[in-house]
Amino acid sequence: MKTKTLFVFFFTITLIAAAFAVAVEENKDAAKEENKGAAKIEIPGGYKGKVPFNHEMHQTQLKDCNACHDLFPKAPGAIDDLKAKKTLKKKQVMNKLCIKCHKAEKKAGNKTGPTTCSKCHVK
Ligand code: HEC
Ligand code: HEC
Ligand code: HEC
Repeated sequence: MKTKTLFVFFFTITLIAAAFAVAVEENKDAAKEENKGAAKIEIPGGYKGKVPFNHEMHQTQLKDCNACHDLFPKAPGAIDDLKAKKTLKKKQVMNKLCIKCHKAEKKAGNKTGPTTCSKCHVK
């Protein structure tokens, strides 16, 4: 009798553990399904020339997508679309996002990105 109770007990524990493992795996899959976009992007930069942008590196460094995507949606060409609609001003992303952060990080003594024109814009 005692052995049977013990068996039922451990059997139940095993079932719960298995269900938990499945739930954790499903969560991982859900995270993987988020569209992270291209690893490398060329942002149009007007007459100054395009701006090669390491999207993946910034995602890993900053962790928070909304650090940038509060300003424009997660869609290809989003910045140009909003500039065309005048919802975003020209150079707004550049000044209020890219350069602002790079300058702040530099001031704090951290590794950071460029703050001079030709280090971002290429022709
Ligand atoms: C440092 C800024 C920054 C961060 C942080 C960032 N993105 Fe982006 N993302 C961009 C830029 C810039 C574009 C290009 C927009 C354009 O083409 O006008 C972009 C475009 C995209 C696109 C559109 C597809 C493409 O390849 O152009 C998707 C999807 C996307 N991002 C998802 C994400 C997700 C998910 C995260 C967080 C894990 C994230 N982004 C974090 C700057 C960022
Ligand atoms: C950290 C990278 C970075 C640096 C440094 C930088 N830019 Fe930009 N620039 C961008 C990005 C990204 C865009 C596109 C988004 C926007 O317009 O905000 C852009 C857009 C532009 C545009 C096009 C605006 C339009 O819509 O027609 C011009 C012109 C420009 N930059 C000039 C400059 C000049 C001049 C400097 C130096 C004083 C400079 N940029 C420094 C990243 C940078
Ligand atoms: C919130 C902070 C933050 C924002 C916003 C941000 N960056 Fe950066 N960027 C960084 C940091 C931190 C690094 C240095 C990472 C490293 O080298 O470890 C970096 C590095 C870079 C580099 C040089 C390294 C490389 O391989 O590309 C470029 C170019 C760059 N950023 C462009 C941009 C542009 C263009 C934008 C705007 C669309 C932008 N960044 C927005 C924090 C930021």
